[in-house]
Amino acid sequence: MNEPDGATRRDFLKLGVAGGLGAAFTPTIAQAAAAGVQSGSAHAPFVAAPIERVRIGFVGIGGMGTVHVNNLVRIEGAEIRAVCDIVEEKVQRAQTIVEQAGFARPTGYSRGRRDFERMCHEDELDLVYTATPWEWHVPVALAAMNSGKHAATEIPVAYTLDDCWRLVETSERTRRYCIMMENCCYDRREMLILNLVRRGLLGEVLHAECGYLHDLRGIKFSTEGEGLWRRAHAMRRNGNLYPTHGLGPVAQCLDINHGDRFDYLVSMSGNSRGLRLYAAEHFPDDDPRRREQFVLGDVNVSLIRTAKGKTIYLAHNCDDPRPYSRINIVQGTRGIVSGYPDRVHIEGRSPKDQWEPLDAYRDEFEHPLWRAELIRTATGGHGGMDVLEDTRLIAALRAGAAPDLDVYDAATWSVVCALTERSVAERSRPIDFPDFTRGRWRTTPPFEIPTPQPEALPMLVQDSL
Ligand SMILES: NC(=O)c1ccc[n+]([C@@H]2O[C@H](COP(=O)([O-])OP(=O)(O)OC[C@H]3O[C@@H](n4cnc5c(N)ncnc54)[C@H](O)[C@@H]3O)[C@@H](O)[C@H]2O)c1
Repeated sequence: MNEPDGATRRDFLKLGVAGGLGAAFTPTIAQAAAAGVQSGSAHAPFVAAPIERVRIGFVGIGGMGTVHVNNLVRIEGAEIRAVCDIVEEKVQRAQTIVEQAGFARPTGYSRGRRDFERMCHEDELDLVYTATPWEWHVPVALAAMNSGKHAATEIPVAYTLDDCWRLVETSERTRRYCIMMENCCYDRREMLILNLVRRGLLGEVLHAECGYLHDLRGIKFSTEGEGLWRRAHAMRRNGNLYPTHGLGPVAQCLDINHGDRFDYLVSMSGNSRGLRLYAAEHFPDDDPRRREQFVLGDVNVSLIRTAKGKTIYLAHNCDDPRPYSRINIVQGTRGIVSGYPDRVHIEGRSPKDQWEPLDAYRDEFEHPLWRAELIRTATGGHGGMDVLEDTRLIAALRAGAAPDLDVYDAATWSVVCALTERSVAERSRPIDFPDFTRGRWRTTPPFEIPTPQPEALPMLVQDSL
């Protein structure tokens, strides 16, 4: 793991206030809208200059990396120049995907676990995109930013408090973006819910419930992919290991870092049962996986209170039989939405005491981006949301506009891993959140829903592959 870069938080304050804002390139709204993005530049501590063709180095081309590589070769203005994985065949497979899409064969890097550092130093790149196991997100993102590239990483961006700060400080010092690719913020139902919140249908938002409830036992015990690394976290960590799928979209609805902030949390884990039980029932007596010991409680629940008094229930369970859910409840003074199944109740609009299907609100409140045929019908990687998040990132970099999600979102949502682990270890003691924005949350307006020109939408994704 890389050492802290030495920049102090005070150094950044000087930089950000004295020079950063004035020196930043600020695109016009028209420029940004033409590329299908909306400028958040007025509130970002810096905005990077536009990049005509975004040259990408991709690190970690397993399950999720392959999804992104397949997306990126279809997005106008994106070009994968280098690919890196510890497994040479995966590098070659990615090189073939890029070549078959009509680009030059990207340079391959597969000389061991730190070969991404060579890639960052040797290749002319604008963006380093990471879909490695969790423990490599921070070293790759730091290597990228320290060599002048923007960083985009899969989730969570980090799982220790120090690493979250390291990423914030490095992004500020190098003035390179560090973006956590939380695809659930781009899912159709989450964007519809955010639209309902922004249009005021729920009234004042008071409370949310969310989580990551996904039976991953088969995947965790697999002899390939995530089975090679994800189960190991359950042997040494006890808390919420994967908070951002549920929490990210909810944080946007609750204006976190945009007028409000997470203040503190309490967290509690129950018994650890599911993984051992699964191993005992699925593997022969002499399989070493039967002897593994786990500390991660199957069910972890946390409560978060915001500085302005909103409350959040956050759950995590990946180790027991259950259908998938992110819960997705948002309660306001005028109504409530709930996921799984998706439903809504709005006072004065819905029949008294009754749910309506969320689908009934699509005609009126569907997010404009989800009206695009290409997004709605996308098949690879969780429907259209992965294509949409990759498209938005490239469009923002090309337009010289601030990307939708920033390093403060990444750190604030991911630090929940570390804080829940600490609270669980200390009998659910309340743990304060750090303020990664250093007070800027007070003046940053609510997260805007980007509303692209409808005619720009079909141009975002090439339809031909
Ligand atoms: N957003 C989502 O919906 C979603 C879904 C699945 C996984 N993920 C995230 O994506 C990331 C990867 O998950 P996955 O399912 O693709 O796992 P995976 O195991 O299939 O892929 C990881 C890849 O990284 C490679 N790798 C490991 N160490 C490396 C290193 N030091 N340098 C270069 N390559 C290295 C592995 O060989 C492998 O190809 C994780 O952070 C995970 O949480 C996100």
